[in-house]
Amino acid sequence: MVDSTPHTEFDEITGIRGPSYKFMHGNTKEILTMTKEARSKPMELSHDTLPRLLPHVHSWTKLYGMITLFWIGPGAVLITMESEIVPDVLNHKDGAYQRQKIEGLPKKLFGEGIVGSEGEKWAKLRKIANHTFHADSLKDMIPAMISSAEAMLLRRRDYEGQEIEVYEEFRVLASEETTATLLAWTVLLLAIHDDWQEKARKEVFELFGQDKPGLDGIARLKTMNMIINESLRLYPPITSLSRIARRETRVGKLTFPANIFNFLSQF
Ligand code: HEM
Repeated sequence: MVDSTPHTEFDEITGIRGPSYKFMHGNTKEILTMTKEARSKPMELSHDTLPRLLPHVHSWTKLYGMITLFWIGPGAVLITMESEIVPDVLNHKDGAYQRQKIEGLPKKLFGEGIVGSEGEKWAKLRKIANHTFHADSLKDMIPAMISSAEAMLLRRRDYEGQEIEVYEEFRVLASEETTATLLAWTVLLLAIHDDWQEKARKEVFELFGQDKPGLDGIARLKTMNMIINESLRLYPPITSLSRIARRETRVGKLTFPANIFNFLSQF
């Protein structure tokens, strides 16, 4: 978000439209009202989740286009859902786009880790992370993953025939919110589409039989891989990313002013 005055001529210069700025709060009140309204009713089983998750983004991009400007207080926020522009922002060569600086409580929570780092420090931490996620390192973790899954299956036996909270189970298994979310949606999708459930089961039995899974076999799980990719596409655990242009930046045909907050979404 930009801390400066909201009276920018940016929208007029670029032709980018959006809801009009309201004194002091920008569009915050509208966002709160829309979100409350969208989440007040139960949702039918549908893959169309954007109107419920981010109703303001859904409604404004429909009205004003895939690049839209709105205001959080005095801060301009650029919604960028144009599929040709999002990769340009994320891969911008000279590092003009950076993550929002983590400060205050979030900084205390995330510490000086990779998520809150930039520049050389980020590159150093990223190198370490790449090593951790290298296939050879992951191979050593497989026995721990298997015993964790076995413990989950044992717990499930005690609840046979009863309703269980799969998300909580997956949180214990994955200890990562994003992964637990992915697993929970994948299980729901497999429950709806039992033909794909059968295909996945067949593939796992063909590759492993009664054996425990190994890295080579896991890499050959083609159907399972497709199912996971489709779950990520339909129910992405992270719905948006944010970047701030540290200086005036050109992306495609557009020039973005310095300090504009970019809300990027793949929906
Ligand atoms: C389905 C599961 C996951 C999803 C959808 C997901 C999504 C993401 C996204 C979108 C980012 C980029 C954030 C940004 O650039 O602003 C990110 C970064 C990151 N994720 Fe995940 N993630 C998942 C699982 C995991 C797991 C299991 C780990 C670690 C055990 C992990 C570790 C990280 C790290 C270290 C970064 C920072 C990378 C960097 O700064 O270069 N993620 N993740």
